Amino acid sequence: MESILNDRPALRRQIGQVAEVAGYLWQKGWAERNGGNITLNITESVDDALRALPAISEPRPIGTTLPHLEGCWFYCKGTGKRMRDLAREPMACGSVIRILPGCTHYEIVADEPVAPTSELPAHLAVHDYLLAKGSPYRACLHTHPIELVALSHSPRWLEKDAATRMLWSMIPETRAFCPRGLGIVPYLMPSSQALAEATIRALDEDYDVVMWEKHGVLAVDTDILNAFDQVDVLNKAAQIYVSARNMGFEPDGMTDAQMTELRDAFGLPK
Ligand code: 13P
Ligand code: ZN
Repeated sequence: MESILNDRPALRRQIGQVAEVAGYLWQKGWAERNGGNITLNITESVDDALRALPAISEPRPIGTTLPHLEGCWFYCKGTGKRMRDLAREPMACGSVIRILPGCTHYEIVADEPVAPTSELPAHLAVHDYLLAKGSPYRACLHTHPIELVALSHSPRWLEKDAATRMLWSMIPETRAFCPRGLGIVPYLMPSSQALAEATIRALDEDYDVVMWEKHGVLAVDTDILNAFDQVDVLNKAAQIYVSARNMGFEPDGMTDAQMTELRDAFGLPK
């Protein structure tokens, strides 16, 4: 079948990474049914031939104006599509869209007219925010990691940085590889503009991963593998906490001094 990935090795590699991560999300049990979504800013891989392609959808409203997305292109998981299917067929379970001049509408360009994820308002707002601040991050992942979502059901872990400190203290790798911790977004309606705006506010407090209370997490990074890794190390820490509690005790956690030592040794941002 004719695909825009044919003869575009850079784009094929990027979408291949999305498919790889989609498989991991399913294997981990974080992607029930159509749960979770991925978007990738692929603008740097777009060539003149791609730019010349006609749209395969009518212009669709973004719901707001996102001025930093002028000229941008994205790969988006399709709404209602399953990660386990996307792992095999990323271009049948997602589509490539471009933002139209004025940044109020987008249109689908390839390969098939698959409607983008219902969380597009949050994803596009995040990409707009990242570009506005000159960030090199191009990937955005939303997923439903079991133990992290479970934590968000207790007010104890919704206090600013309470979950961050506990998770960092479970194993040194979490401190090193999710060095900005876990921001908190209070419960809001999925897919809403309010959720998009609250997500930006939380990321702007200097987090790469934020918890959508009683729903899931949203993570950003340079590419989708790195975004996945940040969620994976955080959820691993949550699993260690759960294991200790299941063994009948509250885990001690590393001390503040031990975590400060790690921060200094690794040159961590916080
Ligand atoms: P979509 O199938 O629309 O991507 O929605 C999945 C989801 O997790 C919504 O929060
Ligand atoms: Zn979700």
